[in-house]
Amino acid sequence: MKHVVSSDQFNHDLLEELFRSAENMFRSFMRPKSRHKLMERHRGQLLFNIFYEPSTRTRLSFDTAAQYLGMLVSSAENASDSSSSAKGESLSDSIMALNQYHPSVIVLRHPKVGAAAEAASSSSASIINAGDGSGEHPTQALLDAYTVYKKFGRLSNLHIVVGGDLKNGRTARSFVKLLSQYEGNHFTFVAESKLAIKKDILTMLQKKKITYSQTSALSKALSSADVVYWTRLQVERLGYTSSTQTSKLIIDAKSMKKLPSHAIVLHPLPRINEISTDIDSDSRTLYFKQVENGLFIRMALLDYILS
Ligand code: NCD
Repeated sequence: MKHVVSSDQFNHDLLEELFRSAENMFRSFMRPKSRHKLMERHRGQLLFNIFYEPSTRTRLSFDTAAQYLGMLVSSAENASDSSSSAKGESLSDSIMALNQYHPSVIVLRHPKVGAAAEAASSSSASIINAGDGSGEHPTQALLDAYTVYKKFGRLSNLHIVVGGDLKNGRTARSFVKLLSQYEGNHFTFVAESKLAIKKDILTMLQKKKITYSQTSALSKALSSADVVYWTRLQVERLGYTSSTQTSKLIIDAKSMKKLPSHAIVLHPLPRINEISTDIDSDSRTLYFKQVENGLFIRMALLDYILS
């Protein structure tokens, strides 16, 4: 795999390999001696973080993952305003220019669906899609799946409740694409009708004979859930400002009472109001654990791409 554009590029074998590698990365990282060795692993290789949209975790987690592997990192963190794109340069010209500095990896976040695929067609460095508009966010799906796997030891035969702004959110799309590769999963999509998941995902599920249902009644879906994957209103894509519009579908202490004791609650973050903070201490909520898992799975992914 040279470029990472969509979560459907990861198959069962590759996922297992990456999960194993992430565990090894974690163990090596925790021991001072082996951490030192880890930092020699890709010394001198360059990673560019080019972000045309805001980010906290994705950018800093790639930055940190690369540095823990000994790589050099250079970032354009506000590329829409501060790069030559503001002067009208095309994405492919920017990517071709950046390639002249001989990076090994370019991590790209861009507001346009298909931007990562477009960049990949003009890049000899590996392009990693860190979010292309409302399209996909494959490495978020990787860390989400890794978190599910760490809890259940499998990615199959799960009831997965996915909710929030499913129309505009890219993480839910990538997560569903990835988990639809596994047998026996059932998806319940919870969203207001104007924010329902797009048809292409439903068609894909039908083709794979993966069962799903759609509802706006949250509490019913929760009682048989194994995994709850919650997302925020994508205010920037809806033209709202976060202070005037908040989510109507909220996971709170009352919802947690409905949820089985073995179930887990995931969220890609940032959270706005759709998960109330008073459930953060419930051991079934793993959204901050996901952030840590993201570091080690991205180290594993970079190592896989570079080796
Ligand atoms: C997500 C994104 O950018 O799509 N954030 C992230 O990378 N963890 C989710 C979101 O912004 O809602």
